[in-house]
Amino acid sequence: MTHDIAVIPGDGIGKEVTPAAVEVLEALEIDFEFHEAEAGDAVQAETGEALPEETYDLAASADATLFGAAGDTAADVILPLREAVDSFVNVRPATAYPGVDAVRPETDLVFLRENTEGVYAGHEDRLSDDVSTLTRVVTESASRRLAEFACDFVTDRDADGFTVVHKANVMRETDGRFRDAVADVADEYGVETDEVLMDAFATRVCLDPDQFDVVVCPNLAGDVLSDLAAGLVGGLGLLPSANIGPERALFEPVHGTAPDIAGEGVANPAATILSAAMLVEYLGYDEEGAAIREAVETTLEDGPRTPDLGGDASTEDVTAAIVDRL
Ligand code: NAI
Ligand code: MG
Repeated sequence: MTHDIAVIPGDGIGKEVTPAAVEVLEALEIDFEFHEAEAGDAVQAETGEALPEETYDLAASADATLFGAAGDTAADVILPLREAVDSFVNVRPATAYPGVDAVRPETDLVFLRENTEGVYAGHEDRLSDDVSTLTRVVTESASRRLAEFACDFVTDRDADGFTVVHKANVMRETDGRFRDAVADVADEYGVETDEVLMDAFATRVCLDPDQFDVVVCPNLAGDVLSDLAAGLVGGLGLLPSANIGPERALFEPVHGTAPDIAGEGVANPAATILSAAMLVEYLGYDEEGAAIREAVETTLEDGPRTPDLGGDASTEDVTAAIVDRL
């Protein structure tokens, strides 16, 4: 069976780390067909559009999409791309690796973030010279869909259950609905959950990340808290993510275009290669995904390493070492 993969490198180091991940995918014995398309600042400068229609259509029809990063146009690219795959959950692992300097080396968490609503639903208004407002949207259906995904996710992982992070003590209606819907679904699935208020979670995860495993949150909380966890594991260069929809999905590193190092050939490809591992697992190739992960982990520990991790290797050197270890 052939899998159609949309490849959208974007701008800056996206153009360096995305080909590296494709090289790793090509080393697997899986039948992929890659379709490359443009998005971001460069194509906007050329054509006036950050996300050309053919790129959107490609993501909306491919089995999976691998995206690098876009510069100033990031929001104009990534939000419609997530919509193209109808993504309702953003999966963001934050794992510390041996050999990488981390604030909390014991960190090993996965955030499952609601990806369509909350304060990012786009209902902002300027009412007067003095007052601006924002309408926060929480639906039963999106909360339940996220919870169903979370229940399947912890069952697949053999995890004990998950932690629900919210602020329902203040946002009683919206986060109250979110909390109750998630609890309801977990109950139906027989999955155990516990609850932590989002502000308390921020402190607790810094002091003792080991007490958490799978964390389920509304959109904004998931955005902020997963970046906070990124800080605990040694920065953005290592974090992959997946935007999952009912029929297709989009995989991307958490980092951006890194203009300070773009073009030098020294970007760390690990985050994008780990995103590629999530992509193959999403397509059902668990063994291959685990093999990529292991090759990345060995390379992080034994080298070669890019300058962000204290080494002097190039993106190409690191990619070649990972492909070798596969
Ligand atoms: P950034 O993630 O691009 O860079 C932050 C710092 O981390 C820089 O010092 C950079 O050199 C370093 N870094 C990031 N990824 C790295 C890697 N793979 N290897 C080595 N070092 C790495 O974030 P920043 O600087 O805030 O944003 C730069 C541009 O990227 C902006 O135009 C922003 O809009 C865009 N951006 C795009 C995203 C996306 O497309 N999903 C996400 C975040 C930012
Ligand atoms: Mg963010």
